[in-house]
Amino acid sequence: MYLEHVPKFGSIQSDGKPVPAGGLFWDGRADTLEEQAKQPFFNPLEMNNPNAPALIAKVAKAPYAAEFRKEWGDKIFGNADAALDAVAASIAAFERTSVFQPFTSKFDYVMRGEAKFTEQEQRGLSLFTIRQKGNCAQCHIVDTDSRDPKKSLFTDFSYRALGVARSMRIPKNAADGAFVDLGLCERVPVEGLKPGAEAPTPKITDPAACGLFKTPTLRNITITAPYMHNGLFDSLRDTVAFYATRDTHPERWYAQGKKFNDLPAAYHANVDVDTPPYQRRPKQRPQLNDEEIDDIVAFLFTLTDGYNPRRGGIDISTQPSAAPVASKPAAPGARSDY
Ligand code: HEC
Repeated sequence: MYLEHVPKFGSIQSDGKPVPAGGLFWDGRADTLEEQAKQPFFNPLEMNNPNAPALIAKVAKAPYAAEFRKEWGDKIFGNADAALDAVAASIAAFERTSVFQPFTSKFDYVMRGEAKFTEQEQRGLSLFTIRQKGNCAQCHIVDTDSRDPKKSLFTDFSYRALGVARSMRIPKNAADGAFVDLGLCERVPVEGLKPGAEAPTPKITDPAACGLFKTPTLRNITITAPYMHNGLFDSLRDTVAFYATRDTHPERWYAQGKKFNDLPAAYHANVDVDTPPYQRRPKQRPQLNDEEIDDIVAFLFTLTDGYNPRRGGIDISTQPSAAPVASKPAAPGARSDY
C-alpha cells in the first residue's frame, strides 16, 4: 500500500546527518514500481520462472490474455522483453490506483475537517509529534497543517538501526546462534533476477549500514502485525513501549538485559542512541509513561483505512481480509512499572 510515493534509493538529511533512504523491497534495490514488479517472477525464492520467455508463455495462456492483447497490441506476446515490460507496467498502473492509496482513515477524515479525534487520539497525535516526547514524526512523517494526505505517509523512507531484540520465532535464528540479519549492509544482487533487473543492484558493503532497517509507514498498522523487521512484537502497545523504555529498562526487552543482542558488537555504534525517544539512560524515567503509550496507540488506531465517518468507526466490509489486531487495553491495576 502507498508505495507509489516511495522515492528512489538515495539519502536524506536527518538531524543534519545523511541517512540512507528510499527504494522498494526491504533493501531498496528497486527504484520504480515497474522494476519492483519484475523481480518476484524470477526470484528462486518466489515465483522462480527461469526467464522472460517462460513467464510470457504463461501470461499468453492466462484468462486475461485477450484483454492484455487489446491493451498492448496483437503482437505483444511475440517479444518476451517487451511483453515483460508491459506486464510490469500493467501491475504498476494498478498499484497507482486508489485501491492502493485510499487515504480513507479516520486521520484523513480529520485532516479534511470531516471527522474529529477523541481527546485521547488528539493527545496521542501530540505525543507522536512533540520532539521531547514520542518524536515519532521525525521518522514517521506527518504534516497536520496540510490537507494533502500524501504529506502524511508516516515514513521518511529512511533506514535506521533501532537495535530491536533477537526473535527466536525466526527459524534461522533459533537454529543457528551465529546467524544474524544485518539488514541494509547485506544488500546484494539476487541470483536469477537478470531478466527484470535494469542495472545490477549495487552491493552495500559499508559497515555503517549494518543493522539498519527500513522505517515502515504506520498507515494501516493496526492490521499488519507482527511488528518490526523480525516480527518481534504482536501488539502495538509493546512496540510503542519498546520505544519508551529500550534505554531506561533494557531488561524488559533483552535476554539478561544485554542491549542490541541481535547485532554483533562491532555494529552497536550504528544503533540510534541520540534521537528522542532514544536519548534516555538506564534507570531514568521512561520517555513516555503508560498513559502516554496508550494515547499514542489510540492515535495509531486512527490510521486504518475504511473509516466510516457516519458510523464513527471502521467499516469492516472495506477492510482487507486480515482481522484487526486489537491492542489489549491495559486492565485496571495491571499496569507495569514502566
Ligand atoms: C529514528 C527514527 C524513528 C523514530 C524516532 C521512530 N521510529 Fe518507529 N520505526 C523506525 C524504524 C527504522 C522501524 C523499523 C525497525 C525494524 O524493523 O528494525 C520502525 C518501526 C515502527 C513500528 C513497527 C512497524 C511495522 O510495520 O512493523 C511501529 C509501530 C513504530 N515504528 C512506531 C513508532 C512510534 C509510535 C514512535 C514514537 C514513539 C516511533 N516509531 C519513532 C524508525 C523510527
